Amino acid sequence: MDKINAVITGVGGYIPDYILTNDEISKMVDTNDEWIMTRIGVKERHILNEEGLGTSYLARKAAKQLMKKTGANPDDIDLVVVATTTPDYPFPSTASILCDKLGLKNAFAFDLQAACSGFLYLMEVAANFIRSGRYKKIIIVGADKMSSIVDYTDRATCPIFGDGAAAFMVEPTTEDVGIMDSILRTDGKGLPFLHMKAGGSVCPASDFTVYNKMHYLHQEGRTVFKYAVSNMSDVSAAIAEKNGLTKDSIDWIVPHQANIRIIEAVAHRMEVPMEKMLVDIQRFGNTSAGTLPLCIWDFEDKLKKGDNIIFTAFGAGFTWGAVYVKWGYDGKKES
Ligand code: UT7
Repeated sequence: MDKINAVITGVGGYIPDYILTNDEISKMVDTNDEWIMTRIGVKERHILNEEGLGTSYLARKAAKQLMKKTGANPDDIDLVVVATTTPDYPFPSTASILCDKLGLKNAFAFDLQAACSGFLYLMEVAANFIRSGRYKKIIIVGADKMSSIVDYTDRATCPIFGDGAAAFMVEPTTEDVGIMDSILRTDGKGLPFLHMKAGGSVCPASDFTVYNKMHYLHQEGRTVFKYAVSNMSDVSAAIAEKNGLTKDSIDWIVPHQANIRIIEAVAHRMEVPMEKMLVDIQRFGNTSAGTLPLCIWDFEDKLKKGDNIIFTAFGAGFTWGAVYVKWGYDGKKES
């Protein structure tokens, strides 16, 4: 029997309309465009500012575009998984809300929590469901409304993040393309450096937690930066070596869009020119689980069948890793 590979057959994305510029951020906190551009690399980020809309709205827009672009019949979708840190509610899952909004009758759905590495983990999860032979059409979504957990009085974090979502369709193929390999890691010792202090079972919401701003993202930037650079660089080099990829045979690297200096460090370590790094941090900022699929959505027209792509990310947990994908089709699919 032929080996079943899991191939990405389409991408859909969504970025909300409202643009929050560095000039506007400079009016909220003591910062300026030059600091944000040189230290982080974000020029603007998009924010979902309509009241009553959450992450499932972003996910729905992305998934609807994906279904249109791939011509998918809702009844044929077997599974939907959403990677997110900002679910609509603590429960039920954002994926279950998405399933309903998409009118999917034959799918099961759940969320995956691995912070900024969520979509990386999700590609490996989807690939294994496909390789099992039991599932034929899987929608995977990376979606985050980071503005819902960012403290816009904290200059160390508020310039970094934005809102957005993108989705892949994953299907079986016997061709030599698809999600080929992954190296994924977790180190729970990262907890103090990047987390939300309250709202979970250790410290449920109370007047005290709200008053003390414990429902916002807390980050010790310098420590996270150091681990992100070394771990993303090491794991990207490791997956390349494991699969016989060289700086010449790697066509693209899709790095998590957290800081342009981290992206440059990965390029340097991999000895690939910045032209091979897919980068849109300037326009979208860090959309957490959204960054990797959004980059593909953004640069889909550049990709060709057979392109060797390394995805890499680092996030809270700590979580990190790299996934090697051989791209499955040429150019941009129209919606
Ligand atoms: O996506 C999940 C993973 N997250 C990441 O990968 C993020 C990793 N970390 C980072 O990207 C960077 O550490 C930050 C962008 C968060 C911060 O940049 P940094 O170069 O590490 O700055 P720092 O925290 O070392 O702070 C340097 C100085 C401090 O002032 P003093 O103490 O030296 O006087 C900060 O108060 O920069 C100051 N600062 C700012 N100044 C102007 C911090 N934020 C700002 C700001 N504008 N927005």
